[in-house]
Amino acid sequence: MILSIESSCDDSSIAISEIATKKLVYHKKISQELEHAVYGGVVPELASRLHAEALPKILEECKGWFGQLKAVAVTNAPGLSVTLVEGVTMAKALSLTLDIPLIGVNHLKGHIYSLFIEQETQFPLTVLLVSGGHTQVIEVESLDRMETVMRTMDDSFGESFDKVAKMMGLGYPGGPVIEKLALEGDRERYPFPIPLQKRGEMAFSYSGLKNAVRLAIEEGSSEDYPDIAASFEHIATEHLFRKLRKYFKTRPPERFAIVGGASANRYLRGRIEELLAPYGADLLLAQLQFCSDNAAMIGRIAVDLYGEKSFTPIGELHSAPKSD
Ligand code: KG4
Ligand code: ZN
Repeated sequence: MILSIESSCDDSSIAISEIATKKLVYHKKISQELEHAVYGGVVPELASRLHAEALPKILEECKGWFGQLKAVAVTNAPGLSVTLVEGVTMAKALSLTLDIPLIGVNHLKGHIYSLFIEQETQFPLTVLLVSGGHTQVIEVESLDRMETVMRTMDDSFGESFDKVAKMMGLGYPGGPVIEKLALEGDRERYPFPIPLQKRGEMAFSYSGLKNAVRLAIEEGSSEDYPDIAASFEHIATEHLFRKLRKYFKTRPPERFAIVGGASANRYLRGRIEELLAPYGADLLLAQLQFCSDNAAMIGRIAVDLYGEKSFTPIGELHSAPKSD
């Protein structure tokens, strides 16, 4: 068995995965969304303190498996430095007391493996990662060969939902609230400019759209919010798809996946078939419960890293807020 820990942002999560079968034996997540909602975003110091309370509580439930653990895996980058360190410190203590190796896991690669929980990997794969911290297109050849081919120049897709919700006074996280509000709105009413439309950059950008939405909010009233939310969600998605279509012209996808917290968005999910139709590409999506941050995906990639004996010496396991 491998015990895995995730604490890169506002979810405290621990999982236990069976190495031989890749089965998820145990998974628990304590989300801090409610605690951060009043502030309209994640407060790092508060998040760190809440992890310090939640992680040991979850770990206590795993004591029965301690004798069977062959390794301990932990997200060590990227994320908030003061929250990553909570998981990393716990993992180091477990590694020392149980005398088992450590496996440091990149959080973004973990999101990619959310697709393969309890199943075999399928590569090559073109991945769109849309989370609170990142918007990237990644070409995945194998566990060790992943290349980021497009990224955002400023805000991420998920972050733009968080910021729009904050401007409307709707709390945090913004994705689910904006998605719900948009269902009642008219997607055509606000023709916000599609980011980077006339520019050739193979990149994403959400700061301009966010500012256009800000103006609409300032000029309108709360009765306009459903239409603003719907128009925003439409343009945010349209931007992703236009850039992807352009990218696919040079590299048509064989197999395509969307991962990350914002991949739970139903409007986005509902339009993927249309995007992929010209290429006949297979589509992979993670189960909804594994789209947002969780330790099950960290455990799944750790099983493959264990197979390669990719262990991280304790002195070399650092929590790194940024990674490529
Ligand atoms: O992957 P994740 O749990 O954390 C990071 O690694 O960042 O993603 C969280 C992000 C937040 O920005 C949240 O608002 C967004 O995912 N999100 C959504 C939806 N559900 C979560 N964005 C759009 N629509 C959703 N339904
Ligand atoms: Zn994440």
